[in-house]
Amino acid sequence: MSKRTIVALPGDGIGKAVLDETIRVLDAAGFEADYVEGDIGWEFWKSEGNPLPDRTKELIKKHKIGLFGAITSKPKDAAFEELSPELQSKGLVYSSPIVGLRQHFGLDICMRPCRTYKGNPLNFIRRAQGDNFDEPEIDAVIFRQNTEGLYGGVEWSDPPEQVYEALMTHPKFDKNFGHVPKDEISVSTRIFTKNGTERILRAAFNHAKKYGYKSVTVCEKPNVIRETSGMMFKMAQEIQKTDFPEIELWNTNIDAQMMWLTKNPEDYGVIVAGNMFGDIVSDGFAGLIGGLGFACSAQFNPETGIGVFEPTHGSAPKYADYETSIVNPVAMIESACMMLDFIEENEIAKKIRKAVAEVIAEGKVRTYDMMKMRGTANVINEGAATTVEMADAVIAKL
Ligand code: NAI
Ligand code: MG
Repeated sequence: MSKRTIVALPGDGIGKAVLDETIRVLDAAGFEADYVEGDIGWEFWKSEGNPLPDRTKELIKKHKIGLFGAITSKPKDAAFEELSPELQSKGLVYSSPIVGLRQHFGLDICMRPCRTYKGNPLNFIRRAQGDNFDEPEIDAVIFRQNTEGLYGGVEWSDPPEQVYEALMTHPKFDKNFGHVPKDEISVSTRIFTKNGTERILRAAFNHAKKYGYKSVTVCEKPNVIRETSGMMFKMAQEIQKTDFPEIELWNTNIDAQMMWLTKNPEDYGVIVAGNMFGDIVSDGFAGLIGGLGFACSAQFNPETGIGVFEPTHGSAPKYADYETSIVNPVAMIESACMMLDFIEENEIAKKIRKAVAEVIAEGKVRTYDMMKMRGTANVINEGAATTVEMADAVIAKL
């Protein structure tokens, strides 16, 4: 088989540090690939007025697989101020390149596994009977619809007349908001399509079946958000009944789920939700397994085979300029393992996961977050491993 080309998208801040180390780990594990670098992020917004240049989209289209670090996003005003002066008169509006990638390539399946590593000092523990504590072993995989719903971008402040009139045809809008001046109304829509909903549900059920999870939980709020959440749950019932009768279908409300998170997180297997609730519930679970240094994700389109794999964390600007990087590369390394699974390099993925697990279980090499330190440049003197040392430890196990 010919050598693969991976589009390396370091982005901003700590993105580059974690991506560089991850590529070293991939090399050490015997993954043979060429890497081409794709431009993305704040730097390109400032200099070109576009954080996701067309040439980057072309690269991803051609090579299909992207490994992405993190980007910086800033509010509207800051985005305008930092734009290079000659571009400021062009009416450019900043929008997140990562959301742009999802929508451009229809990367509608987002998958965020949250698995406990034995020996991670950040693992969630729970008070048990008497003075005892439990450390539940969590193995949940969140499937988040990635392109629709509340993050679909269909929103207005002071909506156009036609939109306002359409809203007024709904009796509840008329009754509850009809007396409010139009220019005092902001509307963000939550659009679910049958196709998008079916795709995320099937991805979740297929994953449960393939990896032997006993349940799929739809985590929405169908009793209140009747149309969108309601549609998702109803479709899940149909899909389960016809195609996955051996898998149990559970239904939780997002608010209750966040409460139960610390009660019985080990009971959940595959969880599926719309865009926003999926974002929330996946961050909730990530917090139980060590937080941002450990939370990995994949977003892909099963039909085109295009996928972008990235840690959940952002660019952590306060650590970006450290001479020696202190952040934890595990989330990025785990995201690369998801990439390997996606391109069916499962054996290499397994090897890397085993090496990471051994390093964590051994506990000799730990980044500052694992030592519960406040992140400063001084943590290295206090015994925390650097980003490079953490990757070195994984490589040594390989
Ligand atoms: P963040 O995830 O960048 O950082 C929050 C805090 O989490 C950090 O200050 C640090 O204490 C910790 N942290 C993050 N990654 C870590 C790692 N690998 N190891 C150890 N500790 C780690 O989120 P924040 O500060 O809210 O946002 C910073 C920038 O990143 C913003 O511009 C935001 O828009 C952007 N962002 C980008 C994302 C992406 O690229 N997908 C996701 C989230 C935020
Ligand atoms: Mg999030």
